[in-house]
Amino acid sequence: MEKKFKRTLVTTALPYANGPVHIGHLAGVYVPADIYTRYLRLKGEDVIMIGGSDEHGVPITIKARKEGVSPQDIVDRYHKLIKESFEEFGISFDIYSRTTSEIHSKTASEFFRKLYDKGEFIEKVTEQYYDEEAQQFLADRYITGTCPHCHNERAYGDQCEACGSSLNSTDLIDPKSTISGSKPVLRKTKHWYLPLDKWESFMRQWILEEHKEWRPNVYGQCKSWIDLGLQPRAVSRDLDWGVPVPVEGAEGKVLYVWFDAPIGYISNTKELLPDSWEKYWKDPETKLVHFIGKDNIVFHCIIFPAMLKAEGSYILPDNVPANEFLNLEGDKISTSRNWAVWLHEYLRDFPGKQDVLRYVLTANAPETKDNDFTWKDFQVRNNSELVAILGNFINRAVVLTHKYFEGKVPARAALTDYDNATIAEISKIKADIENNLNNYRFRDAQKEAMNLARLGNKYLAETEPWKLAKTDMERVATIMNVALQIAANIAVAFEPFLPFSAAKIRRILHMENCQWDMLGNDNLLEAGKELAEPELIFEKIEDDAIEAQIKRLADIKEANKRNNWQAAPIRENIEFDDFTKLDIRVGKVLECTKVPKADKLLQFRIDDGLGGRTIVSGIAQHYAPEDLVGKQVCFVANLAPRKLRGIESQGMILSAEDADGKLVVITPANDVAPGSEVK
Ligand code: MF3
Ligand code: ZN
Repeated sequence: MEKKFKRTLVTTALPYANGPVHIGHLAGVYVPADIYTRYLRLKGEDVIMIGGSDEHGVPITIKARKEGVSPQDIVDRYHKLIKESFEEFGISFDIYSRTTSEIHSKTASEFFRKLYDKGEFIEKVTEQYYDEEAQQFLADRYITGTCPHCHNERAYGDQCEACGSSLNSTDLIDPKSTISGSKPVLRKTKHWYLPLDKWESFMRQWILEEHKEWRPNVYGQCKSWIDLGLQPRAVSRDLDWGVPVPVEGAEGKVLYVWFDAPIGYISNTKELLPDSWEKYWKDPETKLVHFIGKDNIVFHCIIFPAMLKAEGSYILPDNVPANEFLNLEGDKISTSRNWAVWLHEYLRDFPGKQDVLRYVLTANAPETKDNDFTWKDFQVRNNSELVAILGNFINRAVVLTHKYFEGKVPARAALTDYDNATIAEISKIKADIENNLNNYRFRDAQKEAMNLARLGNKYLAETEPWKLAKTDMERVATIMNVALQIAANIAVAFEPFLPFSAAKIRRILHMENCQWDMLGNDNLLEAGKELAEPELIFEKIEDDAIEAQIKRLADIKEANKRNNWQAAPIRENIEFDDFTKLDIRVGKVLECTKVPKADKLLQFRIDDGLGGRTIVSGIAQHYAPEDLVGKQVCFVANLAPRKLRGIESQGMILSAEDADGKLVVITPANDVAPGSEVK
């Protein structure tokens, strides 16, 4: 049995205020949460949507230190930028606040204190790295050293980016503090732990038995955590940025960011509704839904619920519809590698096209698996769906009404069976949209909404009012009336998905009202009502705009290659005698041709000062043969000859491999006599 609720509390993951937001944020969390909330609001339900910036945590302090500003400066800058981006994309928060607010530190502090007083924490003393020069404990990210697995010398205390292993800072060989550069020492420190093990059997029952309807990815992650056995988790840190631990003797310690951030949902609700926030958080008739990305699952399904249970007076989430990841052109989105489409930049390049992005991100939502955003797909969905199906239908309905009826909704006469079947279809689509939205299937829901526009186009194509205009204006009036009713239904159905465009359609149709239960009604527009002038709702996106975006990403990829490039480690030492065995010479390229049917090979005739020789070299993908003729190159002259594609190669041309794998031949700084030895 579906449980009946009185109200809904929608929360959206609080993004870290250490960078702008990108399409991955929008697709994974904010667009689905916004669709869901707008839908419930349209139905007249009691719903609030809570958001805010997550402004604590180590990465923010690192960024501040790098820039020589305070952490507060960093979060002020990005909170503002993020908040503006969300507003511009129509994400309709009831509140978007922040975890550096006063009400938040009070709320988080009291929450901790209540658990502390109830004896819900255990205290443990452990050893942690301490920087004696800077006189502070070091978060894992503040320690670098040599990776014990791959010997990369620039590994971090929590992970090695070269080989991907996750590490403990005590695993690092030769650890160094990134603050002072000194060698850290181990020091004892006390922290508070939430004993998740205490809640293990509760979680097993509550999630694995009572919430089998959660998305398979969410349920599966919870199950594997629970099956591995839940462990106590530290909820405090030695750090000077965060909510201070409200306990005597805890100077210099703050709440762990993952302890304070979810409490931010509560603080922000309090800030929004100082007098009535509790009914949203404590009444079992409230449905709590957390919208998050998959990297947040354990925090929202296990750790935060354990905190709420330990506190004792809060409800737990009814669902956590976490999304998988959205990739960008085949690669994982990454803030540090600048591999993203930033929302503020998108709007600079595509002003006014918020809904296009909303549409594409929902059409491609990573609901059940990781998905890929590509600019080509973005263009195709705009041009052949939004323009060709949705925009085209609305435009035709309005233009024809202006053409035949002076822009006034014509009265209709008797409906045919086909008209009635078409109208009946609207209600069916409505039920399908609802069923999908109720089950957090946003891409399917949007697809159904789009079917209304398809229905409208099909209706006009089959009834062909333009052909009847000469002979049967009464029938044309009926057809246009039905078409306009479909258009009005579209304006309602798309309000959760494409709020800007839905509002535009309503403006054209002069619709004042918009409520979900208007959907399915075939008499939304009264006969005689005047329409506004037609305006284009979507416009074609041309190739050059898309190519510019693709070029921008290619440039970023190029820059990343160079920035991340690391010289290969030096090989084992050799003796001088080994070196002198190599006979390296300079030669001049006399001829150079492609080896037929071999993609990689070039055949050279080299003037070696001794009558010439043939060398075959695998650099065809890096040079056009004619570019090398006349150049001086270096080659190993005493390499035993070997046959390549039937050609005997008498030596090897030397080249350097560039950061991106491109081969560059080695030439002497000035021309020398062919056959000169390289020593
Ligand atoms: N800042 C976290 C992230 O971006 C999300 C925090 S969600 C909250 O991954 F519940 F802690 F608020
Ligand atoms: Zn490594």
